[in-house]
Amino acid sequence: MRILMRRFTRLGYAAFLVSAFHTASVSAAPFVQTPVQGSVNDDLNPYPDKPRLTFKPDGTFKLTVFSDLHFGENPWDDWGPQQDVNSLKLMRTVLGSERPDYVVINGDLITGENTFRENSTLLIDEIMAPINEAKVPFSSTHGNHDNQANITHIEEIERELEVAPMSYTRAGPNGVGGTLGPGNYWVPIYAKESDLAPILILWFFDSRGGFSPNPNSIPVPDWVDASVADWIKSESEAMETAWGPAGSSRAALTFMHIPPHAIQAVQPTITAQKNPGLNADFLGSGSVQDSASAGNDKPFWDALNTHIENLHAIVSGHDHGNEWCAREPTKNVIFCFDKHSGYGGYGQAGWGFGVRNILFHTPNPKASVETWIRLEAGETRARVILDDNYGR
Ligand SMILES: *[C@@H]1O[C@H](CO)[C@@H](O)[C@H](O)[C@H]1NC(C)=O
Ligand SMILES: *[C@@H]1O[C@H](CO)[C@@H](O)[C@H](O)[C@H]1NC(C)=O
Repeated sequence: MRILMRRFTRLGYAAFLVSAFHTASVSAAPFVQTPVQGSVNDDLNPYPDKPRLTFKPDGTFKLTVFSDLHFGENPWDDWGPQQDVNSLKLMRTVLGSERPDYVVINGDLITGENTFRENSTLLIDEIMAPINEAKVPFSSTHGNHDNQANITHIEEIERELEVAPMSYTRAGPNGVGGTLGPGNYWVPIYAKESDLAPILILWFFDSRGGFSPNPNSIPVPDWVDASVADWIKSESEAMETAWGPAGSSRAALTFMHIPPHAIQAVQPTITAQKNPGLNADFLGSGSVQDSASAGNDKPFWDALNTHIENLHAIVSGHDHGNEWCAREPTKNVIFCFDKHSGYGGYGQAGWGFGVRNILFHTPNPKASVETWIRLEAGETRARVILDDNYGR
């Protein structure tokens, strides 16, 4: 009965899907479902009122990651607003030519230190404009500059949901995420519209940091809170109950703004050949999660690597001068940096601005994934294939 009702509801989506999706990321047909065996069901879909996100009919799925956009610097000067004009141009250029199936905005949307209480969320409206025009599904993580005197992660999330209809960003359940770290959630991606179980889970974590809003302005811990560890476990168990074991039927990809602490030890071992891409930011001086006292993110790091199976990569921004991917040997997991996308935020001449693209060639959860950096003008570099052999 439940399944019949859902089928009906999804038929209701058809017209919306056709008009809302201008890429082929959600297929409108077929809606015919094969009879479902066992315990597989749709009860765990966190987006019952939104279109199901799917691989394209040709079997591919492409993500484009904008990171560290840093909107709103020095609104009282000319150069601050001009940076944002440049960043919007980059976003429109990239979205127009890459035509991704999903966009991730991986933290530091705003340089919150410079924003005013009365209008800080207007910057979210500015960032959402190119995404809304492209009609591409997306979601955001939030960074240390998004928690400041006049802005917080939850304010940005709420505003995004108000102004961007294609947003899949969610706040996690109450009690998960710790102080000022609400942005812990996952998004299911299906191989095709009629599937009841997703083939890929995109996980998003809130690495917090920055300062609590006025009048307190106290530093916020800059690591994923230990409460997220239990939540990862319980969500993974719920997924297993609903859809069966991940085994060879479900993969994952993870995004968080600040790199996990363990990545600091990886940097000295990378080589230009194995780990191509800019390597100009030294981790350890406030630029990794939990840099002051190693180990605070251990519960999260352990849970992530214990309960999330078939994890293709963990993807972070925060360090504007880094672009590489590398294997973290103790957990045997791949980590990748984003590409600094915003003209705001620190940088150096020659670093350039762009995005990270991630391309699934097939829905097969065990297949390799291709990823590379794309610069604004179209140049690409640091292309690597993420598989069991990568980075060993
Ligand atoms: C916000 O208000 C400040 C002060 O009035 C102004 O300088 C700035 O341009 C405004 N920002 C936006 C995004 O409207
Ligand atoms: C926060 O906003 C208020 C009101 O617009 C402004 O007076 C104050 O300077 C802002 N705080 C910071 C740290 O920019």
